[in-house]
Amino acid sequence: MRHLLTLDDWTPAHIESALDLAEEIKAHPGNYAHAAHRRTLLMIFEKPSLRTRLSFETGMTRMGGHAIYYDTRSSPMGAGKETLEDTAHTFSRYVDIVMARLFKHSDLEEMARHASVPIINALTDLAHPCQILADLLTIREHKGRIRGLKVAYVGDSNNNVTHSLMIGCAMTGADIAVGCPAAADYAPQPSVLERARGLAKTHNSSVTVHESAADAVADADVVYTDSWMSYHIPQAELDERVRIFMPYQVNADLMAAASSDAIFMNCLPAMRGYEQTADVIDGPQSVVFDQAENRLHAQNAVLLSLLEDAEKAH
Ligand code: CP
Ligand code: NVA
Repeated sequence: MRHLLTLDDWTPAHIESALDLAEEIKAHPGNYAHAAHRRTLLMIFEKPSLRTRLSFETGMTRMGGHAIYYDTRSSPMGAGKETLEDTAHTFSRYVDIVMARLFKHSDLEEMARHASVPIINALTDLAHPCQILADLLTIREHKGRIRGLKVAYVGDSNNNVTHSLMIGCAMTGADIAVGCPAAADYAPQPSVLERARGLAKTHNSSVTVHESAADAVADADVVYTDSWMSYHIPQAELDERVRIFMPYQVNADLMAAASSDAIFMNCLPAMRGYEQTADVIDGPQSVVFDQAENRLHAQNAVLLSLLEDAEKAH
């Protein structure tokens, strides 16, 4: 059973064909109006969401299928009354495919071990592969290619989006430079960094980490940042994190270090005045709402690709 737990569960060929299919669905949505006919997606949420929930649910509706929103706070699993294992065995008897937004990545892996339908990672503390597929589509649309570009990510880097971006860039031949504080709490997890560097070697790209934001961003084609206060970070850490990450804020001065036609990306939600200034996110280089829209098209491609494989396997 093929799942999408992290991007490197897939081959570069899977990624490229998903991006091609996403482009095709976006250009000709009418051709896919029945592509998920009578198929049901279960959407399990342990954390909040705007984009992920709306894009998956709308995606299934547009393709003639159905989606169920399931908040774990109202589930036996969330109430500590049912194991993940029994939950996975049960949902596999009803639905065709599942997306889950969980805190612990190991819970998602456990779910996938016991499910007999495909599982899609809709964000864990470790990884956010659906976001990065949408972002690669967005980069391809704006830059005409991915291979050979320089992507810079600055800010909180012990972070799901950073991790998946490093893996996604390495697999598709883009160089990625991460700018973050050196302390382990704020830098990419060593196992992910090592994995991304291994992939970069295979695919002729590079992964570098810099303490200076300006060094990371120098001549970049893409400047990316994410929230300093991810969903799993306690609000009590706000003041300390603002102090630590402020040197990595994407403002006009930092954007000036990038290539003059660089695009600015943020997966959203965003806080103006924190990880970027308002003039950057609301300015002409920003493509953040293209990213948000592309969640829909990229995920429709993921859904169709995984459903097709699962049907072949049965
Ligand atoms: N980018 C993203 O996943 O947004 P939500 O948290 O709103 O789903
Ligand atoms: N890193 C962020 C991404 C939000 C889509 C978080 O985990 O909250």
